[in-house]
Amino acid sequence: MKIVGFIASPRKEGNTAWIINKILEGAKEQGAETQSWYFSDLDIKPCRSCYGCKQDDRCIINDDMQKLYGAIEHADALVLGSPVYMGQMSAQAKIFTDRLFARFHPRFSPQFKEEHAANKKLILVFTQGNPDSGMFQLYFDYTKNIFQLLGFDVQGVHVVAGMRNEPAHERKDLHTVMKDIGSSLVSERFPE
Ligand SMILES: Cc1cc2nc3c(=O)[nH]c(=O)nc-3n(C[C@H](O)[C@H](O)[C@H](O)COP(=O)(O)O)c2cc1C
Repeated sequence: MKIVGFIASPRKEGNTAWIINKILEGAKEQGAETQSWYFSDLDIKPCRSCYGCKQDDRCIINDDMQKLYGAIEHADALVLGSPVYMGQMSAQAKIFTDRLFARFHPRFSPQFKEEHAANKKLILVFTQGNPDSGMFQLYFDYTKNIFQLLGFDVQGVHVVAGMRNEPAHERKDLHTVMKDIGSSLVSERFPE
């Protein structure tokens, strides 16, 4: 099983990176092949709305998103992590999500084709400064729905709150919880 993590934070040593890597560590211990992509290292331009992708199923923008399309194609499961910025995903995560339009035909689009529904497993992870993990619940539910409309099999939306006072790597409770999320992603693929 191949699992790809996407870290949509500008901070390579930040909370989101630490959490995504813990999830991948848990998956790797269960035998998964894992890979992480740091958006801070990548040049991903915003969608140009040229609709070229609806003619021949590929995005014409020649940037690092082309590498991510390849990684997604070969993955069984994706883990997308973003810090909460102003109650939403980061700009980097949003640009990435918009660019998925080239590969996954969403059900809200007139160009939707059932056979293009990706049906890949997806875990969404948000980290936030505020300690109330329910503060942006409406947004998290909405975002889950958007990824489902894209055809992803959304396995969970995990919100890690309270990062303002205690960074993720100092939170002892998170070590096991995050690794367990990764390992269950693998075991659910091969149920006993
Ligand atoms: C521009 C900006 C906007 C933010 N907006 C929010 C917010 O709306 N709610 C919140 O709880 N935390 C907010 N935060 C805090 C981050 O979500 C939090 O520190 C997060 O864990 C950072 O992740 P990182 O370490 O992976 O970069 C914001 C931080 C920044 C830099």
